[in-house]
Amino acid sequence: MEISVKRGHAHEQKTACLVVGVHAGKRLGSAAELVDKAMRGALTRLVKRGDISGHLSETLMIPEAPGTGAERVLLVGCGKPDGIKAAEYLQLVQKVARTIADAGLKNAVSCLSDTHVRDRDLGWKIRQTCSAFGGGAYRFDQMKSKPSKRAQFARLGLLVGAEEFAEAQQAANTARCLLSGMGLMKDLANLPGNHCPPSHLAETARDLGKAHKSLKVTVLERAEMEKLGMGSLLAVARGSVQAPKLVTLEYSGCPDKSRPIVLIGKGVTFDSGGISIKPGAAMDEMKYDMTGAASVLGVMKALAELSLPINVVGVIPAVENMPDGNAIKPGDVVTSMSGQTIEILNTDAEGRLILCDAMTYAARFEPEVVIDIATLTGACVIALGSHASGLLSNHDDLADELLAAGEKAGDRAWRLPLWDEYQKQLDSPFADMANVGGREAGTITAACFLSRFAKDYRWAHLDIAGTAWTSGKAKGATGRPLPLLMEFIIGRANLGS
Ligand code: BES
Ligand code: MN
Ligand code: ZN
Repeated sequence: MEISVKRGHAHEQKTACLVVGVHAGKRLGSAAELVDKAMRGALTRLVKRGDISGHLSETLMIPEAPGTGAERVLLVGCGKPDGIKAAEYLQLVQKVARTIADAGLKNAVSCLSDTHVRDRDLGWKIRQTCSAFGGGAYRFDQMKSKPSKRAQFARLGLLVGAEEFAEAQQAANTARCLLSGMGLMKDLANLPGNHCPPSHLAETARDLGKAHKSLKVTVLERAEMEKLGMGSLLAVARGSVQAPKLVTLEYSGCPDKSRPIVLIGKGVTFDSGGISIKPGAAMDEMKYDMTGAASVLGVMKALAELSLPINVVGVIPAVENMPDGNAIKPGDVVTSMSGQTIEILNTDAEGRLILCDAMTYAARFEPEVVIDIATLTGACVIALGSHASGLLSNHDDLADELLAAGEKAGDRAWRLPLWDEYQKQLDSPFADMANVGGREAGTITAACFLSRFAKDYRWAHLDIAGTAWTSGKAKGATGRPLPLLMEFIIGRANLGS
């Protein structure tokens, strides 16, 4: 999707669809007033007649707009004229983007950035509008023999006032880079397991490294991981014919060698459960078990395109979890890179087994903070559903910073406790710890397990099992938690400059 910032008069915009707002109480917004004049009072008549009243997210498509440069006008309810909440604006732009996508239109110009949103600036409104339209325009038809005939939304114009132009352009540029990272992330997550084994994640990282000088990519193979003593990660890989990879992407945007943010993304390219095999229903969805990894790749791409002044390292442990004669079995004990031993009671709790070695490995980058991102537990879906990612950390300030970033980006997380009392659920009579802690508090005990490998740095864990994809008929990757992560990183980059 192309994004361009426009200035000038609303009624002069040449577009398939001009989006203008009407406030509650039947009051036309400033752009709508201009269009109304050009259309000889047509909008006023429609509002008077009661076809639209201005309540939040109401829409009215007007199929003709004589006197203007637009083929049609989408009139949108913008709620109270004195301002709406951030969440209401998100709802509004999503509704608009959906309406325009459903109408099969290829381009539009939005005049909605004149809507007042409490505690949010123009840049935020521009970014959220782009993200909503970008989401509506996204398609995954790589796997179809013929591309779909349905028109795809391709060009978004954003009309702003002359004095807002520079700020709006900067926000649009940020939005463009975010959408580019988001596109890569969603494509990878949506790719089926047979087209996206660990080697594909490694290849994708290498391609990013070739495209951007600021990105250095290294891929460790099985033999190198053996030398490092990654017995836990390699244990999971044993059941698959697909070779495991440990992918590292180092983005240097800040030459002063300041400590990097390290992002670790779970890259299980398919999770059958292994010998503790999963039931058949919806098992196909376990192709998304590498969305943590995909979000790291998406973030690195966006960062490199944005040239943000900050250092970030992405680490991706990538494996496929399969049952096989050579696979790990319940009861097996393995030694992690940290030296701690693990009794594997359930081979389906494989995410933590690969993450723990990646976390030990991450210490070599002398991180400022480490954040791991993982579709880690079904229990998180039960606890929080699809609206919030689970956040666990023992560092209150880091947790607060991530929660605030999610809130601002419209990609929320919710914190769960990581109290010591939960740790004993991982006791094992045979090893230093078990890899599962029973049915109770499954998301928390999974994080407790990880916390034992995060002793040397500040760390937070995001469980995205419920937020990373939509299940059922309209299944597909959501692109979360890329907005949260980017908001967090942009916030840190601004602090540094
Ligand atoms: N990838 C799954 C978690 C998952 C389940 C994500 C459902 C999204 C939807 C993970 O590897 C897993 O299987 N976890 C187990 C852990 C259990 C064995 C302690 C789970 O949640 O059932
Ligand atoms: Mn599993
Ligand atoms: Zn898994």
